[in-house]
Amino acid sequence: MTFTESFFPHLTAQFPSTRYQGSKAKLVDWIWEQIGDLDFSTCLDAFGGTGAVAYRLKQEGKAITYNDILRFNYQFGLALIENSETYLTPEEIDWLLTHHKEISYPNFVQETFRDIYFTDDENAWIDQTITNIRQLSDPYKFAIAFFALCQACIIKRPYNLFHRKNLYIRFADVERSFGNKTTWDTPFEEWFRSFAEEANNAIFNNSQHNRAINSDILTIPDEHDLVYIDPPYLSAQGVGVDYWEFYHFLEGLTLYDEWKEHIDFKSKHHRLKRRASEWTNKQLIGSAFEKVFQKFQNSIIVVSYRNDGIPSIEELTALLQKYKRNVRVEQYGQYRYALSVNEDAQEILLIGE
Ligand SMILES: C[S@@+](CC[C@H](N)C(=O)[O-])C[C@H]1O[C@@H](n2cnc3c(N)ncnc32)[C@H](O)[C@@H]1O
Repeated sequence: MTFTESFFPHLTAQFPSTRYQGSKAKLVDWIWEQIGDLDFSTCLDAFGGTGAVAYRLKQEGKAITYNDILRFNYQFGLALIENSETYLTPEEIDWLLTHHKEISYPNFVQETFRDIYFTDDENAWIDQTITNIRQLSDPYKFAIAFFALCQACIIKRPYNLFHRKNLYIRFADVERSFGNKTTWDTPFEEWFRSFAEEANNAIFNNSQHNRAINSDILTIPDEHDLVYIDPPYLSAQGVGVDYWEFYHFLEGLTLYDEWKEHIDFKSKHHRLKRRASEWTNKQLIGSAFEKVFQKFQNSIIVVSYRNDGIPSIEELTALLQKYKRNVRVEQYGQYRYALSVNEDAQEILLIGE
């Protein structure tokens, strides 16, 4: 370890690359510029996703609670936010990638998802690797390995999602305007090693007690100086980003033994049975925001938003003003979502003090 690494780990540690829908990884420095002067030491990233924003706040020495309703994301929060000193060793990574005679490997993914997302060999690799990961007793080592498995699954998928049965796209002999065949065809093992290393390189101690939790936002105790809210985006047309629907395969990996009971076998792509959410429903999203603002009215409230969603910026600002005296609206003009078709979409930060 170099001098810098041992004394200033937050300067050398680096957040992993990510292909998660709606990730704010590219915006975290701008977000910090907008909120860095506010007076707070404890904070909550209530819709944590990849953990990119929580991680930036951890780098600034804040005591951060990461939360996400999805169990696979919660593992990312454990690995990168709560964890401050546990790493996966090269020997452990080799062990996770080896077939062990003494372990009996189920073939659930091979049988259930044939021809849907990955090839037969890749499905067998997933069954073997999740089974090996489940032998790890240290929760942080488990979380790092699980993170690497999920990122490997995401990067090998067309569109980086699990919303359709579309394995064939990887092998169709056509001009493509998206995706990258080399990336898709790079073996799982290589991606796993690469993401395990990225996670290891992200781990550091900021001398605070940081936590990861796995709750609906409305059940988290209100005990934070600042609450950062980055809910699923609902377009003006009423089309929401349904994380449960897009990433059900990764959520299923967290429920490996009981996955079958939760699958909707009527769907071609064997998604998990649907779950209703106020955040993807244009009739309910306004009241969902109001419940959140009311609940956290004693904290500084910071909301990431876009200027073309439901509710509108004006409606959302008025709602926040019901609970906070000073509300300001900051805009980041140039940022574009990777998959966005709306060229005019602007990233907004609402800050209520
Ligand atoms: C826009 S993403 C957050 C992205 C995150 N800021 C990042 O940089 O990666 C929204 C997240 O909210 C989570 N979520 C959806 N409904 C939720 C709820 N009711 N409570 C907590 N989290 C929820 C989703 O699982 C998703 O990861």
